[in-house]
Amino acid sequence: MKARFTNYFIIISAVLWSTTLSSEPSWKAKEYPATAAHAPTPLPDRVVLTWDGNPATSQAVTWRTDVTVMEGKAQLAVANANGRALQPDTFIATTTHFESDINAAHYHSVTFKGLQPETLYAYRVGDGVNWTEYYHFKTASSVAKPFSFIYFGDAQNDIRTHWSRVFREAFRDAPRAAFTLHAGDLIDEDAWDAEWGQWHQGPDWVNGTIPVVATPGNHEYFQTFDRTQKSRVRKQVSTHWRPQFAFPIQDVPDASLQETVYYLDYQGVRFISLDSNTAQAAQVPWLREVLENNPHPWTIVTFHHPVFSPASDRDNTELRELWKPLFDEFQVDLVLSGHDHIYARTGEVDQAKVFNVPSGYQQAYDPNIGTVYVVSVSGPKLYKVTKGKYAKRFAENTQLYQIINIEGNQLRFRAFTATGNLYDEFLLQKQPEQPNLLIETFLQQ
Ligand SMILES: [Fe+2]
Repeated sequence: MKARFTNYFIIISAVLWSTTLSSEPSWKAKEYPATAAHAPTPLPDRVVLTWDGNPATSQAVTWRTDVTVMEGKAQLAVANANGRALQPDTFIATTTHFESDINAAHYHSVTFKGLQPETLYAYRVGDGVNWTEYYHFKTASSVAKPFSFIYFGDAQNDIRTHWSRVFREAFRDAPRAAFTLHAGDLIDEDAWDAEWGQWHQGPDWVNGTIPVVATPGNHEYFQTFDRTQKSRVRKQVSTHWRPQFAFPIQDVPDASLQETVYYLDYQGVRFISLDSNTAQAAQVPWLREVLENNPHPWTIVTFHHPVFSPASDRDNTELRELWKPLFDEFQVDLVLSGHDHIYARTGEVDQAKVFNVPSGYQQAYDPNIGTVYVVSVSGPKLYKVTKGKYAKRFAENTQLYQIINIEGNQLRFRAFTATGNLYDEFLLQKQPEQPNLLIETFLQQ
């Protein structure tokens, strides 16, 4: 009897054990963000400023409501110190019906045009009944003038939990920044509305008063599994991208690159967004034209995948072959990327200490050219440095934000940890008929 009981016990245990095993997925699914908090209402949310034209004379604003709002409206006036005396003009929005994975919404977009440079405006958005508060924005100067902007690498994961504080620390350090620049992978799953909701929640009202500049990463790209190639293929940029941001629509080589490939001129600096996810070769002639016809002294380029990749077995050789020759020829000042979840910033290094790097990395910084390449990360997913010391400054396991100031012939770059500690700093100085002078203000040579 005792033996039989023991046998039953073994059998029952085995069944329970196998049941437990079979009910456990072979991979752990990523936790889906809570969705209830991201339902649209008649009151606008996800208010975000971007530019689709000249920042000195125009300003685009985009927001979301539920589908009961058939016509979005924006009101705009030159800001004054007596709110009730504002006499705003009213603008009717372009409205897009949008089906996300969890809800239907309307995205509304207005571009204010014919604005006065260097002027503080007040605006609000709504439907004529439900309005937001008035937000302020200031148009750019039409000439070169000092300004600053904030640059973020990938936010991507646990955005609400672990990225919001980084954005807010950066804002507290540069509350008058001209814009925030996001170098791709703002979210992890391109079609998860709740993740986009988290991305809007962190900055909250700040996105309504400091414009956003963004370039897409691989996680903004919808991917499908190609059975013949046995690999994932990138299909198209997130369906959220164009409804929620208004970026310039320019003469890009392919309509699929609209609003991911563009340039903006801001107070003496040409900012260029390239799409490193797709059609890299097709962007070359466009890039050449934009660099050739650049009337400004400074040029800053952003795209997601780094030219010099510090992590894992990644190496984006096609970007070095296709785009770097143009960065060299036109002596682009700064290239801002993400993707590798590490901080790596190029500068002059002791060549005797450069080892274990892929070919082409030996002189990641060339003083005869003067271009500085930066990879950074703002979210909590963090990788290890696996390449040799090709860069001047690295950080592992560190969330960061960067503040860049440009004033006359000098660019000041500072990287801060998520806790606000200065982690890196350098200056770039323009020199007549010479490459930029790179001055290491944080590190000793
Ligand atoms: Fe990425």
